[in-house]
Amino acid sequence: MAKEIKRIGIVGAGFTGKQIAAQTALNDFVVDVYDIDPKVLEGAEKYISGVLKRKNKMDSIQKVSYYSDLDKALEDVDLVVEAVPENLELKKKIFSQIDSIAPVHTIIGTNSSSYPVSKIESAVKRKDKVLNLHFYPPIPTRPMVDIMAGSETSQETFEKGKQWIIDIKCEPLVVKKECLGFVFNRVWHAVKKECLKIWDGGYADIETVDTAWKIFTGMKMGPFTMMDGIGLDVAYAVEMSYYEASGDPNDKPPDALKELVENGDLGMKTGKGFYTFRRRRKK
Ligand SMILES: NC(=O)c1ccc[n+]([C@@H]2O[C@H](COP(=O)([O-])OP(=O)(O)OC[C@H]3O[C@@H](n4cnc5c(N)ncnc54)[C@H](O)[C@@H]3O)[C@@H](O)[C@H]2O)c1
Repeated sequence: MAKEIKRIGIVGAGFTGKQIAAQTALNDFVVDVYDIDPKVLEGAEKYISGVLKRKNKMDSIQKVSYYSDLDKALEDVDLVVEAVPENLELKKKIFSQIDSIAPVHTIIGTNSSSYPVSKIESAVKRKDKVLNLHFYPPIPTRPMVDIMAGSETSQETFEKGKQWIIDIKCEPLVVKKECLGFVFNRVWHAVKKECLKIWDGGYADIETVDTAWKIFTGMKMGPFTMMDGIGLDVAYAVEMSYYEASGDPNDKPPDALKELVENGDLGMKTGKGFYTFRRRRKK
């Protein structure tokens, strides 16, 4: 049976956007990748081609195109995944641009970690064709995607989005009604919140918490290492969005986390966060 969704646009090819593009290309879709920053686009091409080569999918390399022009990138896509930084006004602006460029049938999904698409949908006319499509990078080891409707999303859009998630070999995590944090991010938020309180209150060392988590869950990394990997700027922004949504002082991330972010200690990407990382020397 012919797939209804065949061509995917990725808007924002940073940390998550390039992984979504690679997973999509690996599963035989045509992919059009756009980023505002040409250097990011170059990095994305290197990453995606590398993944496809390692998986022996040489044919798929030709099916991925890279654009610095949004109009060209979205000319013929059936589904767009927006993965620009976590800023509501920026996401609305990008949704509005996509809405004015993409074909009328195109579905627009956001990979936002915290904003329900109902907060973004006012920026588009096609309110029946929007979705939250939230990934959990690294996608190869965490192949699952939250899928959540906006206030006017049609059942057809939802089903098509769900089928696409299955087609790219991920598990769809269906959110039955709007929920801050979707399915698993909500669980993960509760874990992070308590870990941060233990650290901020001086109750135990980060190493102790991470070790306990690894023994208990059998996972290779603890919550503090994972937050360093995600980026403390992203982690702080996400925790703040929960706090802003609930207004519950218990949800407020500790000021000490904000201080790390303000000092530029953002985790693995800057070499220091909760932990200090040895930088790879350039050859
Ligand atoms: N980092 C994670 O682990 C993670 C996990 C799930 C979801 N997300 C969500 O994915 C989104 C992107 O996060 P990320 O970590 O990939 O960020 P990132 O900073 O690595 O990538 C964002 C990209 O968007 C590009 N960009 C900025 N403005 C743009 C514009 N106007 N048009 C096109 N591209 C533009 C940037 O150049 C950058 O390459 C956020 O909404 C975030 O909450 C992140």
